Amino acid sequence: MKRDKGCGELKESDIGSSLNLAGWIFRRRDHGGLIFIDLRDRSGLCQVVFSPDIAGDAHSMAHDLRAEYVIAVSGEIRKRPEGTENTSIPTGMVEMYVQKLEVLNEASPLPYNMEEAADAGEVLRLKHRYLDLRRPEMQQNLIMRHKITKVVRDYFDERGFLEIETPMLTKSTPEGARDYLVPSRLNPGHFYALPQSPQLFKQILMVSGLEKYFQIVKCFRDEDLRADRQPEFTQVDLEMSFIDKEDILSLIEGMMRKLFKEVLGTEIEIPFQRLSYHESMERFGNDKPDLRFGLELKDMADLASKGTFKVFLDALQSGGMVKAITGKGMAGLSRKDIDMLTAEAQLFGAKGLAWIKVKNGFESPMSKFFPEDVLRQMAQRLEAEEGDIMLFIADKPKVTYDILSRLRLELGKRLKLIQPGYKFAWILDFPLLEWDEEEARFQAMHHPFTSPMNEDMEKMLSLNLSDPELFTVHRSLFTGLRAKAYDIVLNGYEIGGGSIRIHRQDVQKKMFEVLNMPDEEARMKFGFLLDALQYGAPPHGGLALGLDRLVMIMVGATSIRDVIAFPKTQKAFCMMSGAPSTVEPKQLKELHIKTDMPVE
Ligand code: AMO
Ligand code: AMP
Repeated sequence: MKRDKGCGELKESDIGSSLNLAGWIFRRRDHGGLIFIDLRDRSGLCQVVFSPDIAGDAHSMAHDLRAEYVIAVSGEIRKRPEGTENTSIPTGMVEMYVQKLEVLNEASPLPYNMEEAADAGEVLRLKHRYLDLRRPEMQQNLIMRHKITKVVRDYFDERGFLEIETPMLTKSTPEGARDYLVPSRLNPGHFYALPQSPQLFKQILMVSGLEKYFQIVKCFRDEDLRADRQPEFTQVDLEMSFIDKEDILSLIEGMMRKLFKEVLGTEIEIPFQRLSYHESMERFGNDKPDLRFGLELKDMADLASKGTFKVFLDALQSGGMVKAITGKGMAGLSRKDIDMLTAEAQLFGAKGLAWIKVKNGFESPMSKFFPEDVLRQMAQRLEAEEGDIMLFIADKPKVTYDILSRLRLELGKRLKLIQPGYKFAWILDFPLLEWDEEEARFQAMHHPFTSPMNEDMEKMLSLNLSDPELFTVHRSLFTGLRAKAYDIVLNGYEIGGGSIRIHRQDVQKKMFEVLNMPDEEARMKFGFLLDALQYGAPPHGGLALGLDRLVMIMVGATSIRDVIAFPKTQKAFCMMSGAPSTVEPKQLKELHIKTDMPVE
């Protein structure tokens, strides 16, 4: 019995014809006389009916059918009787009356009820991912992912980009995470690193004159995992020669426009809004602002210094800041509510949360520390009106931004301020370097191959790095340097980033010096790129999009796990296959590896 069409493809025009269908049993209802089955395949659901009057054999066999059995049926397509139509599914006007049933495969009792899969708990669903992926929602996600990938491939192909694969067994790439290492049997004691990105190879392809490269490629990063981070994830990676920043930005804007139109039927506005890194931090507290709502951060340092509130004065005196946001209509919060909000802020690392309610004047334990007109100016700046609450954080800049950006998101959700739709932005003018407290040295904010801005190039090249005080006393010389880097942000997610690269060997060398990376270390890590740069490297630049994040947003999911067929848990564990696992002692011996962990 070969199937004639998909279960979800039945139409009223099929009424009267005899067809074969096949699929999984989603639901079975036994009404004594008639047995109804919702039959499911990738195309959707339809109802098949077993009647003792039409096919006695099939009907009695149907008593033994259970959820997720695989069956083939043939029979006549009929219009459903008046009043029994199901308008919630596309095939709801018709049903099949089965003449012949073939059980293609049975299924063991299920670990959870497929109809209530969404409540089953993610661990159980990940363990039985084969069942989870039968859910129409999950199949839709993978279908969308396929469509998105296809549009992206076509877009780059049409513009003369070549899809070129780069090695998975390679040397470490500096994208800021820990590497996944692979031991080499043929070179005992030596390891490959799985690529954190194809960064060095794509630059070398530019040196080789390939001019336009792209790749849809797996990347591996051993870092703390979250809803939008997996240890292996996919990038849409690209690189171009003889271009500048504007070429990359408009290339990507064009791609997004085509993608959203072809896949979602949505027109998105281009060019995207542009924000400098500095502006984004000041207004939203992070460099991936969700622009679907306002609730912007306001600087309160000048007003805070006009009072006697010790918390604020201490923060300002020790080089910190005081910033605030307004909870619209939230003056009704009880002390207990505020304590809970404070506890949340503390969970994010705040020392406390100061608040002033606008409620018949100003109500707050700290209002006594401020003259009335200062309180009024605060409210004015924060656009706080009767019924609102002003929330303040006073801390080091990093902490203040971080807490308030999280509070902003939390309030945006709570107050239902987030508008539907897609808000893209470019974040530009990133600092070239950021100070790493732990290692007491500068790190490249993007990666060490990112070019400084033209205006800052000479400044960087002329830094006298042998001045011992440069890294301590004159640290601000470095913080003023900006990079030719850009991030693309969508609805509060960083969905991609890139830069114009350093193509001059002298600049690259200086960059490593600024990063306090000795020659030998740079040579050991990226010698092959440095070599390549000697032999006529064209000006070049590129970008990588996080495909999983983009797909997640486009399908409306809240975790990238929902758009990856076989994702890993927070502990980087594959619930289904059981990876990572221990290996045979013989395998370790061949690799000359000893572990100091007890192996069960
Ligand atoms: P970057 O490190 O910014 O840039 O990575 C590009 C994009 O990849 C996505 N991403 C991730 N997605 C899921 N899980 C992860 N663990 C994860 N890490 C990153 C993000 C991010 O914006 N070589 C440079 C690009 C370039 O300069 O051309 C790079 O890898 O959406
Ligand atoms: P305290 O003086 O520690 O009792 O704090 C007085 C009020 O200020 C409380 O509401 C605290 O939650 C709040 N607070 C304490 N530290 C900070 C801070 N760094 N930023 C904002 N509010 C704070």
